[in-house]
Amino acid sequence: MTRASLDKQPHEVASMFDDVAEKYDLTNDVLSLGQDRVWRKAVAQAVDARPAQKVLDLAAGTATSSLPFAQTGAYVVPCDFSLGMLRVGKRKHPHLPFTAGDATKLPFKDDTFDAVTISFGLRNVQETDRALRELYRVTKPGGRVVICEFSHPTWAPFRTVYTEYLMRALPPVARAVSSNPDAYVYLAESIRDWPNQPALAAKLQDAGWSKVAWRNLSGGIVALHRGFKTV
Ligand SMILES: C[S@@+](CC[C@H](N)C(=O)[O-])C[C@H]1O[C@@H](n2cnc3c(N)ncnc32)[C@H](O)[C@@H]1O
Repeated sequence: MTRASLDKQPHEVASMFDDVAEKYDLTNDVLSLGQDRVWRKAVAQAVDARPAQKVLDLAAGTATSSLPFAQTGAYVVPCDFSLGMLRVGKRKHPHLPFTAGDATKLPFKDDTFDAVTISFGLRNVQETDRALRELYRVTKPGGRVVICEFSHPTWAPFRTVYTEYLMRALPPVARAVSSNPDAYVYLAESIRDWPNQPALAAKLQDAGWSKVAWRNLSGGIVALHRGFKTV
């Protein structure tokens, strides 16, 4: 069983997700107490995919995050570097064009997509800044990015309860439902280590994105960041 360390070596991250692939969607639902569905709805609204638009869902895993875009009639490409996650996804959603690819070296031409998005994936990418620049490269001028990621609760007392107690409760719960509970130790550690809302916004701007803004969901447990590629 693989557990990635905080330096996020790509082969460790990919094999950790290979290990959890079969039970990934169930574990998500249980650990987030169903909140993931609310977060996914908010992502779909922010992406605002239209029929025939091309949408890249990066780090799509089993493509649960891609479905809301496909349902609008957009052409969605789920891309991920864990073959285990892609395999489970393809079995569940054979109609989607799953593509193997690394976030830091995307297998797409410049200016391809109307919208690019990544849900609960950017935190796992070893070179965050490089991935943000790659996303920018493959987006059409005028196109948009939406990043959905765990973040930092904004109300200090809740932030303490969340990081000190809830995050510590995660691994024992995961032990009951997941095929690789250690992956959820990594999940808790990587959430604590992740930049807060303004720091991630600054990274997006440094990568070239303009009009960067964010919105907190569930009190900042999750944040949606948005940006545009200038025409
Ligand atoms: C927590 S899952 C999220 C899956 C999906 N987006 C969702 O919301 O359910 C994170 C995914 O990021 C992928 N990932 C991590 N680093 C990556 C990279 N450098 N390139 C492509 N995918 C990557 C993993 O393989 C994993 O499937």
